[in-house]
Amino acid sequence: MPLHAHLTVNDRGHLEIGGCDAVELARRYGTPLYVLDEERVRAACRQYLSALARHYPKGKIVYAGKALLTTGVCRIIASEGLCLDVVSGGELYTALQAGFPPERIYFHGNNKSDDELRMGLAAGVGRIVVDSEAELVRLDELAAEMGRTADILLRVTPGVEAHTHSYMKTGQLDSKFGIPIAGGLALEAARRAARSPRLRLRGYHCHIGSQILDLTAFDITVGLMMEFLAEAQAATGIPAEELDLGGGLGIRYTPADDPPSPDELVRRLGDALRREATSRGVPLPVLVLEPGRSIVGDAGITLYTVGFIKRIPGLRTYVAVDGGMADNPRVALYQARYTVVVANKAAEEPAEIVSIAGKCCETGDMLVFDAPVPPLARGDVLAVLSTGAYNYSMASHYNRLPKPAMVLVSQGRHALLVERETYDDLLRQDRVPPWLEPAAPQAAGACGSREVQA
Ligand code: LLP
Repeated sequence: MPLHAHLTVNDRGHLEIGGCDAVELARRYGTPLYVLDEERVRAACRQYLSALARHYPKGKIVYAGKALLTTGVCRIIASEGLCLDVVSGGELYTALQAGFPPERIYFHGNNKSDDELRMGLAAGVGRIVVDSEAELVRLDELAAEMGRTADILLRVTPGVEAHTHSYMKTGQLDSKFGIPIAGGLALEAARRAARSPRLRLRGYHCHIGSQILDLTAFDITVGLMMEFLAEAQAATGIPAEELDLGGGLGIRYTPADDPPSPDELVRRLGDALRREATSRGVPLPVLVLEPGRSIVGDAGITLYTVGFIKRIPGLRTYVAVDGGMADNPRVALYQARYTVVVANKAAEEPAEIVSIAGKCCETGDMLVFDAPVPPLARGDVLAVLSTGAYNYSMASHYNRLPKPAMVLVSQGRHALLVERETYDDLLRQDRVPPWLEPAAPQAAGACGSREVQA
């Protein structure tokens, strides 16, 4: 089993995902190719929902669309009954075009423009998550102008920062997100929100980090947030209906990662919430969680074709593939680690250690360092695993590489979620200012030279 239970090796020795042969997918759709396993996405949604049912029935799961959002993905999330977190007009537009029920949308963002706020108000999104006092004031004005009301959460910063294997409790809240609890700023915003006849303050939000593998930071956060809820209730007279603890649960990128399950996360949060609610005398809030990575991350793989192989004796073997940091910037940005499987040789034993390089003009454009692989040749198909989150959504056109296609696989079926871009797509938004129109033939010179006119 290559890293995840939903990835198997078929009797041809090929990697299989969603009942589809990965090598066949690469042949049919070309590479680089994002592949998303629908059943795995649905299973992750259900794991969260059943964890709530078991440990804290007063809860909601809000999928964080920043991890991966297309209209097809919206359909899957909607049909599983989850809510959706969007952070921009573009994500909101995608959701609305996909027919996602607006009342199940949470609209985030630390710098929503007037147009974005108007779009959210007009669509009647379920929650606008207000990130600052200034946004609170502006939203109130816009709601008045439009004759609308809005259900809001206030995003606060409790002063906990979670890292993959550790957490930090910072006294100083140096973050562009949220209103600090420290210094009474969040309480002041809560009082202001409570006074507005157009804004209904439903509760509070925080998000402490991403790819979290140790739940201690969540325990501490629940304590700090429940303390704040009690203070805010005393200050405003309004008990918080909802406590949104954001996303952050980690996934398995390599065999060394051992993330807690959604069930463990919710059980632990539920226990902490009950304990805190009793000791502080506040009602139990609706628990809202916003997982992104742990819904789609391991459901996705990226297929590449091996190109040139460069052996530097005694040092390293570089295996170059036809994608790289343009489709997966996470290695260059965060030193992220991935697992690679040779899709057409998935049953073969490793024979050497190689590093997988991208094709962009940048030394940092690497996908995997020091991966054990069977003997490789040009034309082999590589699968980089756990690329479902923050790959397509963070992809760029660096070096004018067209963005890859994305295919949804499910029980042996496969179909496009996103079409592969063409070279013409790259030119679609280009405009040539009139003074750059082709010069008269006599002015055209050789590259770099200019003919001197007599
Ligand atoms: N809610 C809020 C308010 C967030 O800011 C985020 C992620 C999430 C939910 C979802 O977190 P998740 O469950 O996916 O960890 N580009 C980075 C990750 C940035 C996450 C930003 N916020 C990466 O590729 O690792």
